[in-house]
Order: sequence, then structure tokens, then C-alpha cells
Amino acid sequence: MAPGDQMPRACITGTGRYEAERVVSNFDLEKMVDTSDEWITERTGISERRMVADGVLTSDMAAGAAAGALESSGKSPEEVDFIVVGTVTGDQPLPATAAFVQKKIGAGQCPAFDVSAACAGFIYGISIVDKFVRLGEIKCGVVVGVELLSRFLDFEDRNTCVLFGDGAGAVVIEPVNDPDRGVVSTNLYTDGQHTDILAIPGGGSRYPANEASLSERLHFVKMNGREVFKVAVRNIASAANETLASTGLSSGEVDHVVMHQANMRIIDQVAQRLEIPLDKFVLNIKKYGNTSSASIPIALDEAARKGRFNRGDNILMAGLGGGISWGSALVKW
Ligand code: ACO
Repeated sequence: MAPGDQMPRACITGTGRYEAERVVSNFDLEKMVDTSDEWITERTGISERRMVADGVLTSDMAAGAAAGALESSGKSPEEVDFIVVGTVTGDQPLPATAAFVQKKIGAGQCPAFDVSAACAGFIYGISIVDKFVRLGEIKCGVVVGVELLSRFLDFEDRNTCVLFGDGAGAVVIEPVNDPDRGVVSTNLYTDGQHTDILAIPGGGSRYPANEASLSERLHFVKMNGREVFKVAVRNIASAANETLASTGLSSGEVDHVVMHQANMRIIDQVAQRLEIPLDKFVLNIKKYGNTSSASIPIALDEAARKGRFNRGDNILMAGLGGGISWGSALVKW
């Protein structure tokens, strides 16, 4: 039995997403950098990604996704009592994007903060809200994963600019006294030995914005793709296995896997390591590219709205990103 099974479970009662306005295909990128549709498709599985219109902010996308999740759960903004936003591309360094989201959705005063765990941000958010729900301190929590990466991409660097897209996904979480529903177990990790393999170096106290940081293009995403690939496969698979072990479930008992959509080859290799067939994976990387912390909740929302999940289904979630931070969760639908 997982710890805290006598306590209320954190149950996902609504999902939502914000789809960015502009569709940017691989062919569009061919006109911007030295790349090809063939290279991108073969190496990543991405055909197109979405990018926001000028003037749209990270908090606009997050608020749109949160509003959709509230609507689908039947809750009103006034009932929201906890907001966590997973993002590394917030509106501004201060205050938290979650504060803007609270205002934009019309929620009242409540804890609202950002989590910086890159592509694992949504899993971190779920894990935090789960703990507060178990302690009886949340009646209606909102967890958002949102990224506006297109404003942090170097469109002169073909190694990174073809991979990412913008988007947001959100869930509403409520306490439910039913052992067959809700978050069963989560596992979170960070390995600070790898802070250099995926980063936006500029804009913080290390490299504040100045002429030098701008000319060295330090405000854009920098990545060692091969290293990220290796640690992603290894760590996502091991985290997912740890979560399964802590719940006592076998991989055969997993009904769906909603994994961070970074690269189709990473997903393939994780599927092999977990010995879970690919048809149990919710896949949408082809359409969105890598939306970092938004990718899991966007995939959840798409699958939920298509009616793919049934009450009580075992959903395994896992993701990894800059930090390196990663995590996994087992949620009963
Ligand atoms: N178009 C054409 N050629 C390219 C492109 C491009 N967009 N990008 C790189 N190349 C070239 C490289 O310059 C290199 O050329 P060279 O051999 O002449 O030097 C060649 O393609 C092969 O480069 P590799 O880096 O070896 O290619 P690889 O097969 O490793 O694929 C990729 C690169 C797709 C980035 C892969 O390493 C990867 O997916 N890594 C994981 C990165 C990732 O998903 N990051 C997202 C954030 S973290 C996360 O979400 C988990």
C-alpha cells in the first residue's frame, strides 16, 4: 500500500489546454535554418509545432488552459484555492507567472507560485498538490504546465530551434475519498551535475542582460542534444520503474503512458525499457514538438477529451528536462 492511502486522494477532475495560434511546419523552418523536413522527422518525429501570436504571454496561455480545465471539472474560479504553474519561460522574472494566472482566471487570494523544473515541471506540480491534498489543505487545486519557448529559441541554431513549440495544459485537482482514483505515487529527482547540458544561461544573476550577454546570445536555449538524449532515456525509464515499484503495479497493469514529448526516439527507447507497448503511449509530438512542461498536460487533455481514459485506469506519467530534473507519477483516472 502506498503511503497515505487512508487520506483523501488528489484526483484529476478536469483538463484543459491552450493551442498556440501559429502552426510552424518543418518546411517553414527549412526557409529559416539549414535543415530539412526529412532530418527533423527522422531524428525527432516532429512534423510541426505551434507558436503564439505576437503579444500573447505565457500567463495568457496558462490562464486559457486553466479556464478550460475549470470548465471541464464544473468548478468556478472562485473555488480555486491553490495554483502551481510549471514553467521556465514565465512572463517575467518577478513576480511569479502563477500570480498573473490567478488574476486572469478570476481566482481569489490563495497560494500561487511557479515551479522551475523544466520539462518535469508539471509532474513536480502534481506531486506538490498531491501532498497538500493528502493533508486536507486543498479543495480545488490547479496545476498548469506552460511554455512560450519560441521567444527563447535561437532561430540561427538548427540544433535547438527545430525541436520546441509553445503551449499550455492544465488540470484541476480535487480531494476524493476513493482508493481507486487519484494520484497513487510520485517520484521526483534532480541531478545538479548536469546543469550545463540544457540551459538558458542569460537573464539571471550569472549573466544579467547587457550588451555582452545579448551579443553572445545567452538568452536563448543552449543544449547538448546527445547528452540530454542519453540521460533522458536512462532516467525517465528508471523513475517510471521506481513509481511502479512503489505502487506494487507491474508494467502490464499500466493502461496508458503519458510521457513528456521530447523526441519520438526517446519515447521508443523508454517504451522498450519499460516493456510497455507503444500503443499504450499517448503521442502528439508530431503536432506540437517539444513543449517542455506543457507536453504532459496537453497530451492528457487531448486524450481525455477523445474519451481515451476510463474511470480507474492506471496512467503512468514521466518527464525530464533541464536541471537535469525529472519525475514520474502513477495516477488512477
Ligand atoms: N537539421 C539538419 N541537421 C542537423 C540539425 C537540423 N535541425 N540539427 C543538428 N544537425 C546535424 C548536426 O550538426 C550533426 O551534423 P555533423 O555530423 O555534420 O556534425 C548531425 O546533424 C547529427 O547531429 P547529432 O547531434 O548527432 O544528431 P542526433 O541524432 O543526436 O539528433 C537531437 C539530435 C534530435 C537533438 C537528439 O540528440 C535529441 O533528440 N536529443 C534530445 C534532445 C531533446 O529532446 N531536448 C529537448 C529538451 S530536453 C527534453 O525534453 C528531454
